[in-house]
Amino acid sequence: MFPPTFRILAFVLPVLITATTTQQFLANAALADILARGAPILGFDTGCSQTSKTCDWMRNYPDSTKLVHMNLPGTHDSATWNYTQVTQDSLFRYTGTDIPPAEIFQCQDKSFFDMLNLGIRVFDLRFAYNPGNDTLGFHHSQALLAPTTTVEDVWFGFYHWLEQHPTEAVLISLNYESGTGTPRDLKLEQDIYDIMSSDLASQYWVQTNGSLGTLGEARGKLTLLRRYDYEFLPASESKRFGIPFSPSAWTDNSPSITIVYNTSAQQKAFIEDYYETNGLPIGAGAAENIQWKYNATMAHLLNATTQNPDQLYITFASSEHDEDVPPETPRIQALGNGTDTPGVNQKLLPWLQEHKGKRFGIIMLDFFDSVPGLVEAVIGL
Ligand SMILES: *[C@@H]1O[C@H](CO)[C@@H](O)[C@H](O)[C@H]1NC(C)=O
Ligand SMILES: *[C@@H]1O[C@H](CO)[C@@H](O)[C@H](O)[C@H]1NC(C)=O
Ligand SMILES: *[C@@H]1O[C@H](CO)[C@@H](O)[C@H](O)[C@H]1NC(C)=O
Ligand SMILES: *[C@@H]1O[C@H](CO)[C@@H](O)[C@H](O)[C@H]1NC(C)=O
Ligand SMILES: *[C@@H]1O[C@H](CO)[C@@H](O)[C@H](O)[C@H]1NC(C)=O
Ligand SMILES: *[C@@H]1O[C@H](CO)[C@@H](O)[C@H](O)[C@H]1NC(C)=O
Ligand SMILES: *[C@@H]1O[C@H](CO)[C@@H](O)[C@H](O)[C@H]1NC(C)=O
Repeated sequence: MFPPTFRILAFVLPVLITATTTQQFLANAALADILARGAPILGFDTGCSQTSKTCDWMRNYPDSTKLVHMNLPGTHDSATWNYTQVTQDSLFRYTGTDIPPAEIFQCQDKSFFDMLNLGIRVFDLRFAYNPGNDTLGFHHSQALLAPTTTVEDVWFGFYHWLEQHPTEAVLISLNYESGTGTPRDLKLEQDIYDIMSSDLASQYWVQTNGSLGTLGEARGKLTLLRRYDYEFLPASESKRFGIPFSPSAWTDNSPSITIVYNTSAQQKAFIEDYYETNGLPIGAGAAENIQWKYNATMAHLLNATTQNPDQLYITFASSEHDEDVPPETPRIQALGNGTDTPGVNQKLLPWLQEHKGKRFGIIMLDFFDSVPGLVEAVIGL
């Protein structure tokens, strides 16, 4: 005979195990459901190969490394990766047909999970209401990117990836996207505030306000670059963290922006965000437009390698010139026009390789994967 406690255990254990298993089953099913809804923005996580240098590249850096000292590859307008003409056509019932072609909006062609596995650590996201003005989703100007995917779904995808890659730190630049035809109201601000200040988000977002810390503090988490202001939300809703980059301080289309994001600590960000090479005459062509953008990128990167070692540098290598005839799309600017004209990405690669070991800061790219070795060159691998 077993002593009484054993007899009780022998009876209770199978029930406990079954309960745990069904709980786990339920949790997995819920996660799968969320990831499926997020797939139009997240894509599918196919994992990393054993030999991948980029999948967990931050694990080789010590905890004490300051984020401002690191070289972080990012993607500009990250959520546009599946905005092909087929996708745009499928969304005409929401956007109407009076919208420029998809190639004007598309800046990437790899999914978020692919980006993460390929080493991208900064994402540029723009939110507004989804159709119906109920949930929040992602847009690029008039282009609606995924009508049923919510901001929460996409955050879940990042949390899920970070759980599997706890050495990595990911920065999220979040804008409110205007020009979508959806309202900007108090409910929208309350919604994004509630999403960002939920218990779940508090676990996965770095909670410091107005300061960028070390890699150790940011690992396994998202760090917010807050490119939106609260215009209607009462001040009592005060849980507002991240690096405040007010749209009013972020000069539009500028080759050189300085934002003091923390006055008392004199923390500054130096930013190049010259995206529309519109100083050029119509008909100037791809080579000339690309050279202008390359020059602006270089001027800023040169400063990043030589000045203000303890301040943040953000350089956008991405651009367009829609007004030109024919237009320079983001793809042409990044990758050239397919024949004799290399794009910004091809021109950037050898320069980065020559300057390996220097601090570049954050570099935001379009079509980052089309020039092999570019991400590795940004990181300095
Ligand atoms: C990408 O777009 C195509 C065409 O619209 C669509 O069939 C496909 O399901 C999309 N991919 C994802 C992961 O949503
Ligand atoms: C959403 O907001 C837009 C702009 O204010 C409005 O035209 C549209 O009717 C709204 N849609 C719904 C479903 O309320
Ligand atoms: C400024 O930075 C300091 C130190 O990093 C931090 O304690 C403080 O909260 C920041 N202030 C603001 C207004 O963000
Ligand atoms: C964070 O800093 C911003 C301004 O930089 C301020 O508006 C906000 O109230 C601060 N939040 C907290 C929780 O201190
Ligand atoms: C590519 O750009 C160059 C320089 O602007 C131009 O001479 C050439 O015709 C363009 N090629 C195509 C296929 O557009
Ligand atoms: C770009 O910079 C180079 C080197 O400073 C200069 O020779 C060239 O004229 C510039 N080109 C344009 C289009 O700004
Ligand atoms: C680079 O630094 C110099 C000296 O501080 C400054 O005058 C110049 O405007 C900077 N260039 C850019 C593109 O920010």
